[in-house]
Amino acid sequence: MSNSYIIKNVDALQVLDSRGDPTVEVVVETIGGGIGRAIAPAGASRGRYEAVELRDGDMSRFKGRSVLKAVSNVVNYIAPAIQGMDVRRQREIDKVLIQLDGTPNKSRLGVNAILATSLAVAKAAADTARIPLFQYLGGVNAKALPIPMLNIINGGVHAGNELAVQEFMIVPIGFDAFSDAIRAAVEIYKELKAILKSKYGASAINVGDEGGYAPPMKYVREAVEVLKTAIKNCGYDSEKQVRISLDAAASQFYDEDKKVYRVDRNDLTEDKLIEYWRNLATEYSILSIEDPFYEESFEAYAQLRRELKDNVIIVGDDLLVTSVARLSTALKYGSISGVIVKPNQVGTLSETLDFIGVAKARGIHTIVSHRSGESEDSTIAHIAVAINGPFIKTGAPARGERTAKYNELLRIEKYLSGEAMYASKILNI
Ligand code: PGA
Ligand code: ZN
Repeated sequence: MSNSYIIKNVDALQVLDSRGDPTVEVVVETIGGGIGRAIAPAGASRGRYEAVELRDGDMSRFKGRSVLKAVSNVVNYIAPAIQGMDVRRQREIDKVLIQLDGTPNKSRLGVNAILATSLAVAKAAADTARIPLFQYLGGVNAKALPIPMLNIINGGVHAGNELAVQEFMIVPIGFDAFSDAIRAAVEIYKELKAILKSKYGASAINVGDEGGYAPPMKYVREAVEVLKTAIKNCGYDSEKQVRISLDAAASQFYDEDKKVYRVDRNDLTEDKLIEYWRNLATEYSILSIEDPFYEESFEAYAQLRRELKDNVIIVGDDLLVTSVARLSTALKYGSISGVIVKPNQVGTLSETLDFIGVAKARGIHTIVSHRSGESEDSTIAHIAVAINGPFIKTGAPARGERTAKYNELLRIEKYLSGEAMYASKILNI
């Protein structure tokens, strides 16, 4: 067997993410000259059970946000352990990373160090083989371009407004090709900008962390209504062609002591919130609602799902944190019909693919997702194609760290040419 896939060198450095926070970049080099480079993303509305990213906490550097310890963990512990291994042995390498860390939540070496290494290994393997990452991961069957969920109005902890719901997304489903879907999304994004500017003034078109506008709105309905208008003004149908999805990120507006949710300047009990989502989803033909309740409320998710009779995809993000164990609990309760897949919630590529495998086997929609703190790294675009979608969530069609993923998907679509297929074709929605 050729030794060109053997890891020759592993290096790491501190770079910046889209919020200006330091993050970890890992570079893996094989004997055959293949290079894999990956950058860890970072969330703001993180789930309680996510793997832990290491921050130095030294207030004299980057206000405590530097990641030099994680970088040195790659150089001093990870590199010597995986040098000499074959990059195609992804599972073996990920196992070494997990064992080296030795904690259940990757808090010793840091998930930022571990994930960047795990992804860089896969990218080095693809580069050594001289094939794109999506093909290395998905083989000849990888052909579906994912349906983008574009977050074009930002609220919650991603914006400085009063909207409780964190993300208001448009989902261009009714198109023949990914590039057509992106074109429609951009038209709507620009139309939305014009509407917001004339209605709320120029400050309403400032953008939040994920590139969506952050208008000074107070009520969830206001945002959904304006999306509907923008879709309609562009000549699209919001019930069929371009749907609306929400990420409530409800743990962020849940008061654990009072057991109420603070929405639209009201305190809602769980029962009231179920009713609230039911009415909103029905009125606006909402495609999906992510994290509609606090991250421990498996039963409330299930109840909403039953009441909506599966007409709306109920998605778990903070609820599941890309963990097979939590997904199994959710499946037992019947809580969800869609899952967010965030590689840095769990920490290695193998664990991410295991989670996807369980979800797909159980007929659950997978949504490969960015974080609010991102970089030019476009690995998630490749993962989404490798698994044939059906969805990707990677922000508005604006800001370089978001367009990096959409542009990579446009390149993959061109590369696949006649073999490319838009994932909505394989979905029955
Ligand atoms: P985060 O938000 O990256 O800030 O956690 C994204 C999401 O909740 O989906
Ligand atoms: Zn979310």
